[in-house]
Order: sequence, then C-alpha cells, then structure tokens
Amino acid sequence: MRNKLIVANWKMNFTVSEALKFIAGLPREAKMELEDAEVVICPPFTALYALDEAIEGIPFQLGAQNMHWEESGPFTGEISPLFLKEMNIKYVILGHSERRQHFQETDSTINKKLALALQQKLIPIVCIGETVSDHKEGQTFEVLEGQIKKILDGQLKADLGSLVWAYEPIWAIGTGKNASPEQSQEVAQWMRKLIAKILDAPTAESMRILYGGSVSEEKARGFLKQPDIDGLLVGGASLDPKKFADIIMSAAPAQ
Ligand code: 13P
Repeated sequence: MRNKLIVANWKMNFTVSEALKFIAGLPREAKMELEDAEVVICPPFTALYALDEAIEGIPFQLGAQNMHWEESGPFTGEISPLFLKEMNIKYVILGHSERRQHFQETDSTINKKLALALQQKLIPIVCIGETVSDHKEGQTFEVLEGQIKKILDGQLKADLGSLVWAYEPIWAIGTGKNASPEQSQEVAQWMRKLIAKILDAPTAESMRILYGGSVSEEKARGFLKQPDIDGLLVGGASLDPKKFADIIMSAAPAQ
C-alpha cells in the first residue's frame, strides 16, 4: 500500500525568518500525524537547518530542491547529497522543469543524480512533464516515455521501489491551468504500466506518482481521489500556511 505524499516546493522563496513564520502560522490540525499520509517541506537550502529544529514534534519531513551528482569536489555553489544526509534530509527533488529550463539540466544529468541519491538512501522525487507544444501536438506520452527511459537507464532495480515520480506538465506550472484529475490519472496509470514493462510490476506498484502544476486547496482532493495519484507536489499554494494546511487536510481520509 502506497502512502499519500504531500510535498511543498517553496522554490526560491522564503528567508529563514519567513520559513519559521510559515511553520508557526500553520493551523494546528495540519501539524498532526495523518493516517497513511506524509508531508514534506522542500525549502531553500539556507532554511533547512532552522526548519529541522522548528519541525521538532511535527510529523513533517524535509526535502531539498536539488543536489549534485558527485559527493564532493570542485563544483562551486553546488550541494552534495552527503551534506543533506548529515542534516536529516530524507527527500530530494530531482530534475524540476525550472532546473531543466534555466540551469540546463538534462535527463542524463538527472540520471546521474538519481543514481547517487539512491546510493545515499535519499528518497528522490523525480520530475517529468511535457511542454505546452508537446501537449498541443499530442506528444505527451512520447515525451514522457523518453524522459522515463533515459532517467531509469542503468539504475539498480533493487533500489528503485522508493522512487517518487512527480508528473508536472510544464504548461500547468504557475499558470493556474492544471491538468484535470482524470488526465493526471490517465498519465499516472500509463506511467505505471510503462515502468512495469521496463522494470517489473512490483517495483512499478511500489513507486509513488505525484501530480504537480497549479494545485490549489480547492482542487487537491480531486487529484488525491485518483487511484494512481499518490500525492501532490505543490508550488504557489504551499507558500500560504492556510492554503497548504487545507491541501494537507485533503489527504486525510474523508470523515
Ligand atoms: P505551482 O503549484 O505554483 O503551479 O508549481 C508547481 C511546481 O512546480 C511544484 O514543483
């Protein structure tokens, strides 16, 4: 059985003091243990240390928004997975479309990052998604298949069960135009079948698949009801404690 996963991707937002204010401002019910659901906050690197202390007693996990594919060396400005491990970080987002767009990340660099993240026992949240023109031209499945195959190429199958995929259509990120819950289900179900073919059915069944792209507190439940959607990767709405609390609560079983 796959636990639901609600992930906040704060992107390049929030100073340390703003991050602490966010945690303090979250309604109490959002900070309680949820049955079969997990909450992960991915702040900027600079806020990780302070947040690790601030969430003591709150059942949240921390995630990083990126990492390098080497453990150490002459890579000015980069962050090693070893630094994350020592700080109690459990998750790491890899290959977000903004990193592909602005920082030249490719499926091949994401493939290298994934191998090291798995080796270091970090749980990778690997982002894939099609552009607006891929979408309009009906190329979604072809594009996603290419991304998935390149990212999985050469990985050790035994490690891959913990992998989390985030399906984030690029045309839906920060635009207010989300894929419908039914569209996201269709893609997630198709992904699972493809991964079962590439790897095997039990590994595909154990991987979690998130939807991301203009998720709001109103829309969250619609996605979470889909059988192959195991959670949400939330950008804009995760910056507002009230909205994010509502999204967390939509992962609680209906009363
Ligand atoms: P928005 O929720 O702001 O569309 O961002 C989605 C996203 O990129 C999460 O990683």
